[in-house]
Amino acid sequence: MARITSFEEYQKEYKKSVDNPEAFWAEQAEQFTWQKKWDTVLKWNFAEPTIEWFAGGKLNITENCLDRHLPEKANQVAYYWEPNNPTEKAVTLTYQQLHQQVCRFANVLKNNGAKKGDRVCIYMPMVPELAIALLACARIGAVHSVVFGGFSASALSGRIQDCDCKLVVTSDGAYRGAKTIPIKAVVDEALEICPGVEKVIVLNRTNTEIKWVEGRDVRWEEEVQKANADCPAEPMDAEDMLFILYTSGSTGKPKGVVHTCGGYMVYTHYSFENVFQYNEGGVYWCTADIGWVTGHSYIVYAPLLAGATSVMFEGVPAYPDAGRFWQVIDKYKVNIFYTAPTAIRALEAMGLDYVKPYKLDSLRVLGSVGEPINEEAWNWYNENIGKGKCPIVDTWWQTETGGILISPLAGITKTKPSFATLPLPGVQPILVDEKGNEIMGNGVEGNLCIKFPWPSIIRTTYGDHERCRQTYFATYLGLYFTGDGCKRDEDGYYRITGRVDDVLNVSGHRLGTAEVESAINMHVDIVESAVVGYPHDIKGQGIYAYVICTNKNKDAETLRKEIMAEVAKAIGPIAKPDKIQIVTGLPKTRSGKIIRRILRKVAEGETNNLGDISTLLDPLVVKEIIAGAIK
Ligand code: WT7
Repeated sequence: MARITSFEEYQKEYKKSVDNPEAFWAEQAEQFTWQKKWDTVLKWNFAEPTIEWFAGGKLNITENCLDRHLPEKANQVAYYWEPNNPTEKAVTLTYQQLHQQVCRFANVLKNNGAKKGDRVCIYMPMVPELAIALLACARIGAVHSVVFGGFSASALSGRIQDCDCKLVVTSDGAYRGAKTIPIKAVVDEALEICPGVEKVIVLNRTNTEIKWVEGRDVRWEEEVQKANADCPAEPMDAEDMLFILYTSGSTGKPKGVVHTCGGYMVYTHYSFENVFQYNEGGVYWCTADIGWVTGHSYIVYAPLLAGATSVMFEGVPAYPDAGRFWQVIDKYKVNIFYTAPTAIRALEAMGLDYVKPYKLDSLRVLGSVGEPINEEAWNWYNENIGKGKCPIVDTWWQTETGGILISPLAGITKTKPSFATLPLPGVQPILVDEKGNEIMGNGVEGNLCIKFPWPSIIRTTYGDHERCRQTYFATYLGLYFTGDGCKRDEDGYYRITGRVDDVLNVSGHRLGTAEVESAINMHVDIVESAVVGYPHDIKGQGIYAYVICTNKNKDAETLRKEIMAEVAKAIGPIAKPDKIQIVTGLPKTRSGKIIRRILRKVAEGETNNLGDISTLLDPLVVKEIIAGAIK
């Protein structure tokens, strides 16, 4: 399928996609292998919501990721795997080898009781077997639920229970920079309260000593030896579930975002081709972790659907030193590099001495994802990494959108620092005011909504469809609400300004304030807490916690450490507050609602213009909070 090659063509395709979305996406879908063609391209109703793309169609996404490229691409590299430690041997997987390993592991899953529709939890480091595990699930129609390896046992067990996983795939340990993390031990702890898990498949990665539960635990390596290498691709309905991925919202526990097979395949592929402009024979590298949606869509599915060659990296940006990304780019002659603003800012802070030793002359396109990229980081990335020659694609999207919705097309859309620019064909953004009225014209700002379904839109939140409706489709009737604020400038370019709900974005990781508060409240001495985000030079947002402590004998430093431990235990180290202020009360309205606006201002260092405080129950509380604010 020819991709867009000029701005005029983009405009033409965009118009086509709005005038006749069904015809537009049907044409895109034609290029794939369907075991049976769809009956209807699209059925939708945002009020319920029901969204069905390619209903009646049968396919298996792995057939499109793997089998479809064989035998032509048998010897082409699918993944160059680069280990955490550069002295360890790298691994290359060709399309043929990947196909074979996926089929073998698919049979391992079957041999261990997994069948179509069963949920399989995957909790692993960034090793090739992680991608293989996802694809093996998809091969047999099992639904994968990947949990990021940085989440705690408590967070893991909550996710396993919520979707009732039958199997867990993990490894003994994980390498992360200089550290070795015993992740099987985390699984063991999580499973103490997950009786539904029948089998745990354990890969050996770090030779870490592990506890062994006879009858439950099996070894990846032994199981693979026993398994057949032939595994037919399970016929899946286009609307059968492909995966669940948990993400945080402004209230309650994280919810399981559900994506289905057909539409997700068509859209992730389309967006990959057009945004990155991948050329046959090129090398593409997305530095995300497969534990997040970026890894699902743009390390596993889309690049394989496109028959691309990717780098998969196990490590972290600053190990063994802050030149690692640039060294890996030179090593594999990476053409397209896709990373997060927080990584760019962290590496920028380390200084150019870590960049200078590397040529970086293979680079053609740079990408950014996960949070707004500030102008300074954009310029640094452009000048020092792209040498002023590589277009930067600032890609805006969400776990719920499955793929990139607003982004420049590399080399085609004129870029502007910190702007995600324009919607992809098939994406119809609108800005609305608080009441849901559309804000027309340019040079405006509002809440970002999408008014028409694209193929990889969220279908439901696992086990609780009403929550999906409430969260995304009930704020503004007839629209999908993103939770983001957004500007549209004089050129009609979109600039995402950040969340307008109580969701934090810390180093590109999404966390709910309520979630962090309930973790803090687990501490015996804390009766109440309020968490807000504040601008952080590297992380984008830092976490500022106001806590009410009942124990007058506890010193602030001890309390701080204990709260950090409590949060790490409930969620994971990524959710640890950066600042904790002990207060005697929180600013509340007479009806008892915390006025977060004031807390946010104080956390930002603002002490004067706190806005209207006349509705406050106890104005003295604000004085105390300002006086004790942590710089
Ligand atoms: C939220 C979604 C998209 C995959 C990784 C994060 C923020 C994401 C951008 C961007 C400004 C961005 C939004 C969004 N965000 N990309 N290019 N510019 N903000 O997925 O965890 O579901 O988070 O990340 O606030 O709503 P996620």
